[in-house]
Amino acid sequence: MNTRVSTGAAPGKVILFGEHAVVYGRPAIAAAIERGLGATAEPAHDGPRLDIPRWGRSGLHIRLGERQPGIESVARAFAAALEAAGLRDARLRVTIDAELPPGVGLGSSAAFAIALLRSLGEFRGAPFSTGDLLEAAEHVERVFHGTPSGLDHTVVALGGCLRFQRGREPAFMPVALAEPLPVVVAWTQREGGTRDVVGRLRERHDAQPDLYERLFDAMGDLAEAAVEALGHGDFARLGALFDLNHGYLNAAGVSGLANERMVAIARQHGALGAKLTGAGWGGAVIALAPDHPERIVSALQDAGFSATATRVGATS
Ligand code: PMV
Repeated sequence: MNTRVSTGAAPGKVILFGEHAVVYGRPAIAAAIERGLGATAEPAHDGPRLDIPRWGRSGLHIRLGERQPGIESVARAFAAALEAAGLRDARLRVTIDAELPPGVGLGSSAAFAIALLRSLGEFRGAPFSTGDLLEAAEHVERVFHGTPSGLDHTVVALGGCLRFQRGREPAFMPVALAEPLPVVVAWTQREGGTRDVVGRLRERHDAQPDLYERLFDAMGDLAEAAVEALGHGDFARLGALFDLNHGYLNAAGVSGLANERMVAIARQHGALGAKLTGAGWGGAVIALAPDHPERIVSALQDAGFSATATRVGATS
């Protein structure tokens, strides 16, 4: 029996520009964050099991083959990762140490996929190549998100900051940052999953495609402008681009009341710009905060939100 204890890790992510528009082929920019997720795979006496002590009310404990209402998608994602690693029936136990909250748009599902696959690759004695890792992660992400653009798991796997564009061959390119971006990230519960928000926007788009395509064009233009501003460390311009992007996302109907409140609080307390990040309808926001980020964090926490000051886009 394999006696190896194998580990894998992955950071979370924030989308800086272009969420939703990326689903329609426009460029988006995403960056890795300092918080992440670690996976440890070790031999066990029975079939594959997965424990995530920090998610759910008393942790998630998954045994494949058992009916476990409420956590089927995590179980299916685990099965997809085992399948990709050729370990479907292996006697092993994986424990995930999650610093990221699940389901708020900070890349928890992509980090879950990448950290898990990395630990399984080590466990079987043949780490995944980058290409195989990305392909396997896409299968795992599909369980959670239906038709993910690929942005999340790509930036989580590669780290740093990336410009991403979907296509027959998804194109991703590192974005050079003058310095890691000083931001405040805040989050709360979501009113629906990524799949629901993306689906609702798809209905609106399909009813009046010309109008929504124009909105997505505008979001794509912002992402291109941001590449330059990021390279120059031009925070004043980046703040304005965040605000514009948030306005477009609001127009697209994906900003919830909680996003509006968090964005307003961040701006009132000194952020140079703020926007929702990820799918929306609650979830997370990101604020550009080079000066006194702690004031923004306290104001958000006083209003009942979770918030942290961090830097994003550092190359790992
Ligand atoms: O799941 P989230 O919150 O990280 O959002 C995903 C970003 C979307 O652009 C809305 C969807 C996608 O697949 O890129």
